[in-house]
Amino acid sequence: MQETILILDFGSQYTQLIARRLRELNVYCEIHPWNKAPELTPEVKGVIFSGSPFSVRDENSPKPEVDKYKGKVPLLGVCFGAQFLAQNFGGEVMASNTREYGRAHLSFVGESVLAKDVVNNSQVWMSHGDTITRIPDNYRVIFSTEDVEVAGFEIEGENTFGVQFHPEVYHSEYGKNLLKNFVVDICKCEQSWTPASFIESTVEELREKLGDDKVILGLSGGVDSSVAATLLNKAIGQNLYCIFVDNGLLRKNEFEEVLASYKGLGLNVKGVDAKSRFYEGLKGESDPEKKRKIIGNIFVEVFDEESHLVENAKWLGQGTIYPDVIESVSATGGPSATIKSHHNVGGLPDYMKLKVVEPLRLLFKDEVRRVGRELGIPDTIIGRHPFPGPGLGIRILGDITAEKVQILQEVDHIFIKGLKDWGLYDDVWQAGVILLPVQSVGVMGDERTYENAVALRAVSSTDGMTADWVHLPYDFLAKISNQIINGVKGINRVTYDISSKPPATIEWE
Ligand code: XMP
Repeated sequence: MQETILILDFGSQYTQLIARRLRELNVYCEIHPWNKAPELTPEVKGVIFSGSPFSVRDENSPKPEVDKYKGKVPLLGVCFGAQFLAQNFGGEVMASNTREYGRAHLSFVGESVLAKDVVNNSQVWMSHGDTITRIPDNYRVIFSTEDVEVAGFEIEGENTFGVQFHPEVYHSEYGKNLLKNFVVDICKCEQSWTPASFIESTVEELREKLGDDKVILGLSGGVDSSVAATLLNKAIGQNLYCIFVDNGLLRKNEFEEVLASYKGLGLNVKGVDAKSRFYEGLKGESDPEKKRKIIGNIFVEVFDEESHLVENAKWLGQGTIYPDVIESVSATGGPSATIKSHHNVGGLPDYMKLKVVEPLRLLFKDEVRRVGRELGIPDTIIGRHPFPGPGLGIRILGDITAEKVQILQEVDHIFIKGLKDWGLYDDVWQAGVILLPVQSVGVMGDERTYENAVALRAVSSTDGMTADWVHLPYDFLAKISNQIINGVKGINRVTYDISSKPPATIEWE
């Protein structure tokens, strides 16, 4: 039995952060939309109500089935959640005179287990336009701030709590301690959710589910598919058939090196050299979206052919992770549920008729890495930057030829190796080089050259949605520029991209 904290989502931008903080405390939790609140089962140790873009004063604001949980298991309301717990049991919530966004300081008003190891006068993060102006008689105030009298409360004789601030955000200094008090001291969770325990239980479940069935999985060289494959391999060994396609748009030596690592991990993997098929299909095409489509379609064809060579395969393994499967609550209209699907392996055709197995569907990205390390996957795979599915195909502006790929691979190799040698690789979220369809005049020795330019790109980010360019040291850029121009025939000019996203994007196409 996996002890679980349920998080009911009311559409707050921070809901996933609550889950991540709890997972960091080695407590397993699940996010569910408020209008699909699960029944209480013995493994549920506590429930958290998230914040929301709605005001509890709105007629159409979410009205969760609170009686399912309140008084039965410990319950913590955050922001909207706290206001809901106040208003619906005899309290009052009003629009604030001054909207409170950002920094505030907590002062302790009453003693509570929830306040253990939270420091008086410490900073918390607020984001609300409503305030609890009156609490029911059996509620007791725990915290106040300069502007808000009821910044935290508990219900006497009941393990129910509410906080107006957001303990889950980084800027709430002792927020993690508060969440720990709730899940450990109040909900009595044992903090037993670790990479090792996840591996043990998942491998067992996979064995039971898959029996002697065969599973096919497309490896990309990235973290998610590699960890998914290694877990499946631990469960079913040689019945896992991995396919790793060389589309000719990977980094220099990547196909050979990654294939060797996979074999070193004991995976039953087949490397498929389909370079010429991709180059042929891409010939003369320079429209970015058409290039993407061509690359995706050829991948599906190759993968499909290869998977048909595995007789009687029943399952398709995928590296889907938790952020891809959490049902999101719409922040504007009524609560709507949309499930994002995973397209990293190119969107496989339905007619493959395989059942899908996704061993990582409960993990966040950082947890996938922790599990991968525990499984002994080398850091060269676990710590690598994200790399787009269409690979160098969208980093060669204009049409693609084998010669251009080779030039870009050389330049990219110098840049990436440089980042590693200078100890900069791990400070960067993603890096790469773009081959520009621009020729310019240069001079080498006594000779005039007329060759291509490249743009180096290195960005910081957390999820690729927003990004900033990294201030790489001038000495490093000087050295790399020199190495590229002297070492790669066909390139006589190096530029560094200093655009943030937005308004630019990370890739140029
Ligand atoms: P942009 O350029 O949109 O990139 O700022 C954000 C992130 O997405 C990656 N990216 C892709 N990944 N297929 C992928 O699998 C694609 O077509 C694609 N386009 C961009 C990009 O590398 C960055 O990490």
